[in-house]
Amino acid sequence: MPKLTIDGQEVEVPPGSTVLQACEAAGREVPVFCFHPRLNIAGNCRMCLVEIEKMPKPQASCALPVAEGMVVKTDTAAVHKARKGVLELLLINHPLDCPICDQGGECDLQDLTLFYGPDHSRFAENKRPVADKYLGPLISTHMTRCIHCTRCIRYFTEVAGVEELGAVNRGEHMEITTWVEHALGSEISGNVIDLCPVGALNSKPYEYRARTWELRKTESVDVTDAQGCNIRVDARGSEVMRILPRLNEEVNEEWISDKARFSCDGLKRRRLDVPMVKQDGKLRPTGWDEAFAAIRERLSSADGRKVAFIVGDLVDCETMVLVRELAQRLGTPHVDCRQDGAALDASSRAGYLFNSTIAGIDQADACLLIGTNPRLEAPVLNARLRRRWRSGGFQIGRIGAVYPLTYPVEELGAGPDTLAALARGEIGFAATLREAKRPMVIVGMGALARPDGAAVLRAAAGLAQVGEEWNGFNVLHTAAARVGGLDLGLVPGEGGHDVAGILAGVESGEIDTVFLIGADEIDTARLGKAFVVYQGHHGDRGAAAADVILPGAAYTEKNASWVNTEGRLQRGKLAVFPPGDAKEDWKILRALSEVIGHRVPLDTLGQVRARMAELAPALGAIDRVEKAAWGDLGGGGELGRAPFASPVADFYQTNPIARASAVMAECSRVFAGGELEATGTHG
Ligand code: SF4
Ligand code: SF4
Ligand code: FES
Repeated sequence: MPKLTIDGQEVEVPPGSTVLQACEAAGREVPVFCFHPRLNIAGNCRMCLVEIEKMPKPQASCALPVAEGMVVKTDTAAVHKARKGVLELLLINHPLDCPICDQGGECDLQDLTLFYGPDHSRFAENKRPVADKYLGPLISTHMTRCIHCTRCIRYFTEVAGVEELGAVNRGEHMEITTWVEHALGSEISGNVIDLCPVGALNSKPYEYRARTWELRKTESVDVTDAQGCNIRVDARGSEVMRILPRLNEEVNEEWISDKARFSCDGLKRRRLDVPMVKQDGKLRPTGWDEAFAAIRERLSSADGRKVAFIVGDLVDCETMVLVRELAQRLGTPHVDCRQDGAALDASSRAGYLFNSTIAGIDQADACLLIGTNPRLEAPVLNARLRRRWRSGGFQIGRIGAVYPLTYPVEELGAGPDTLAALARGEIGFAATLREAKRPMVIVGMGALARPDGAAVLRAAAGLAQVGEEWNGFNVLHTAAARVGGLDLGLVPGEGGHDVAGILAGVESGEIDTVFLIGADEIDTARLGKAFVVYQGHHGDRGAAAADVILPGAAYTEKNASWVNTEGRLQRGKLAVFPPGDAKEDWKILRALSEVIGHRVPLDTLGQVRARMAELAPALGAIDRVEKAAWGDLGGGGELGRAPFASPVADFYQTNPIARASAVMAECSRVFAGGELEATGTHG
């Protein structure tokens, strides 16, 4: 490993490292604009200049490989002068927008100018005008502020796999633009706002609405898909102003999807903020006591076995602990957390986890997608698949509907017939899977949420390599609550019905009371004959069918846990209080249990979490993935004939928060029908 001296300190770095990386290893900070550790090196801003002995001029450290014996200086008068010169050139055309610029307070250019920059300009010429560009409903542009670092171009080309941004003209006339003016067709486009080191690319919905120093920052977890991307919720007063990604190398690196970032305006629309009870066919606002009394009255005459619980896709684990306890006390086996009817059995944890782990994608050498569209079901995970593909030696096959991804795939077939043929070794891709050292089989809800789902699960598991070192069987969930629900055993008990059975039971009269705990993705029209209690945060489909509404808290309004698709328990923290009379969900069920005479003796969050760890030992540790033992996956039956379809028809409308969001509605309109262009098959 080459040794070099940086500001008098000797460091050893791996061969092929850049001088900038060596400076970082030595703990020296070097300012950058164009360099980004997750993008290819461009070396075009010259902000990272350092002095290197025996080299006549300051050198761009981000683009220079280390050599044995190099002597680097990062903090000399010459280096400062060079950086000052770079900034002076950048500022020739930069507007004096800081007081109104959204980037103000978190701007690299502002910070570095304050530190190194000139306090006056020697240029009297007019600044150059640049027309702003239309990039869609999410990103606003102020192109006079652009410093041509090209991070945005590289991000879309390399990470998002959507070659839609580029530079036209040269020198002073260079402009960043889309070739033909249109919205950027990527589900992870918002990350470019964080990448842009200046205020050229901003969040359109957040534009001019707050300054960074006014915001209260809370660490949380995204629930708009099952990846569990780490986020930071920035709030002012009682309003969530914006959502940003938080670094977690194992889960989302530093990216989040556009739905995670931009659906937050839905948190203040269509909210249920007061309990309601239906009278004369109309829901009217009431108090908690009256709402609970209506439920007590109903349950006092009902047989416990006629009650059912359906748990939705955004529900936290603490609430699900209370659901389980309450259902047990009521004596009902009719509990289900699988709104879509996915054939997932809670008995084998490895049978419903993304066992290779998200970070494990980096080590995989082949991949088979079965009934899944990762681009819409987990866009950040999809970006990781793309990165793995870009680094080479990663063949990807697909069984299911054909839709555009951001990497090339070998189309193997449409449905279970192909799966069976692959198992028999009749398709060439079988050899690819067999010969690979770490192949991944990724099964989505498009393959599992169907009548033959259990048979598909078994067939898919049969194709996976499972051993001590590597478990290549992966279920890609779409619901943030699903793994936690399965871990906590929220599936029908002995003689119990699943969601389809509950709906049929309501129609036949076997079930007469249904608790919808944040459950909106079912056919609520079939609940007509039942007494429906809806507990949740939005006036969506479930609330419309309710006889009693108990207003709960959205994910930004509670201290709660979710388990991601790989089985990692993560905690979100309360960023703002629930609106009006709404309460944290586990507390509502705890209070209700007392009123209806089935008291659940869990009085504090600590007690609920202790019970959670008792019910599901894997949920005792935070942010850790426990390897699940491989066992019998249960299920079985015959494979059907119908092709696999993606469970996500419209990426922007998959949950009640997104459906309440004006921004998501606009995205849905712009990218109508979810028909994104085929893109990004180039390295
Ligand atoms: Fe000021 Fe930075 Fe905005 Fe430029 S990009 S106007 S330096 S805050
Ligand atoms: Fe860089 Fe931002 Fe300009 Fe793109 S828009 S080149 S990220 S400054
Ligand atoms: Fe090195 Fe831009 S950061 S040239």
